[in-house]
Amino acid sequence: MLSVNELEFLTQVYQMKKVYASIALLCTVCLNVQCQKAEIHKNDGTTVEIPVEDIDSITFSMTNPFNFETRTVRLNSGYDMPIIGIGTYLLTTAQAEESVYNALKVGMRLIDTADIYGNEVGVGRGIRRAMQDFGIKREEIFVTSKLWTSSFNNADYEVDERLERLGLDYIDLLLLHHTAAYDEEAYQAMERGVKAGKIHSIGLSNFYDDDIDRMMKIATIKPAVLQNETHPYHQSRSVKAHIAKLGTILEAWFPLGGRGTGIKTLSQHEVITSIAQAHNKSAYQVLLRWHLQCGTIAIPGSSNAAHIAEDYDIFDFELTPDEMQRINALECNHRFASY
Ligand SMILES: NC(=O)c1ccc[n+]([C@@H]2O[C@H](COP(=O)([O-])OP(=O)(O)OC[C@H]3O[C@@H](n4cnc5c(N)ncnc54)[C@H](OP(=O)(O)O)[C@@H]3O)[C@@H](O)[C@H]2O)c1
Repeated sequence: MLSVNELEFLTQVYQMKKVYASIALLCTVCLNVQCQKAEIHKNDGTTVEIPVEDIDSITFSMTNPFNFETRTVRLNSGYDMPIIGIGTYLLTTAQAEESVYNALKVGMRLIDTADIYGNEVGVGRGIRRAMQDFGIKREEIFVTSKLWTSSFNNADYEVDERLERLGLDYIDLLLLHHTAAYDEEAYQAMERGVKAGKIHSIGLSNFYDDDIDRMMKIATIKPAVLQNETHPYHQSRSVKAHIAKLGTILEAWFPLGGRGTGIKTLSQHEVITSIAQAHNKSAYQVLLRWHLQCGTIAIPGSSNAAHIAEDYDIFDFELTPDEMQRINALECNHRFASY
């Protein structure tokens, strides 16, 4: 456990919300793999060593590089990525078109899709309709897609296929969806895509420490983003410390627990509902705000326009350090997905 002094220090830093960005320049979290300790380099020049299992979102809030004014984060690729957006897993082509359109309408600028979702054509249609109806420029929108495992041995072609299906000139962020045979070759194909101007940033999804290290042996471009299952029951603290040294940002899939039992479990949890009541917000909004205050990007999935608007309406309240700690305490290493 953290000592009282360490906790006090971290809490103080957390409360300095206005200077998140400058703190990010001065503090870093590094993982010492041998002894499984994370080093927190404080802005007074001293270092605190914390066992990996004790890292929590207060620790990460020290280094939270999110800009809550612009609602973006600067990636290690140099591009700015919105910190909340729309997820499209399990949405049909028509539903994806509507959800993307509605998300852009309420101000969301981040869209998450994937080859395997089969809805990239709908996502592209939603983007074009919204650009036309709301006067949004392409460069204001951030589109993520993913290469599916079965095409890793043909990834150069698949990069072009993503552009074709989305109807875009470039993809903002392309991820490898999972570890699989030929994933190193596929990563190198994404790097070629960056050099050719077809992709701005690249990253990984469903990768953990050993596979990330393996990829870094062949990579010439560091992953800008790691997209893994992350929510209060599975907070991804260890992998987040691991990627911090690469300047890689964590993005949460299943930020609300996912369709099925997860979302019910989390949104009906007494800790979440009581905090929601205190802020006059919904449980879903509290969950999403918690992700952002942890420095984790969230992409809630929805096919409901009212839900999408609600999910984006999380910039007029802030969780206190005590509320953050109460949510942190829900960690139980429980995943809601079976993959
Ligand atoms: N990389 C990967 O392997 C991977 C895996 C899974 C997901 N993802 C990505 O991550 C995104 C998020 O995950 P997910 O969509 O599976 O799960 P999720 O975002 O945790 O939860 C989606 C569920 O939340 C509901 N919901 C959203 N906002 C709500 C609100 N304000 N009030 C009530 N219910 C609300 C949705 O229902 P309604 O439709 O009724 O709003 C849906 O049932 C995906 O869409 C996908 O883009 C990536």
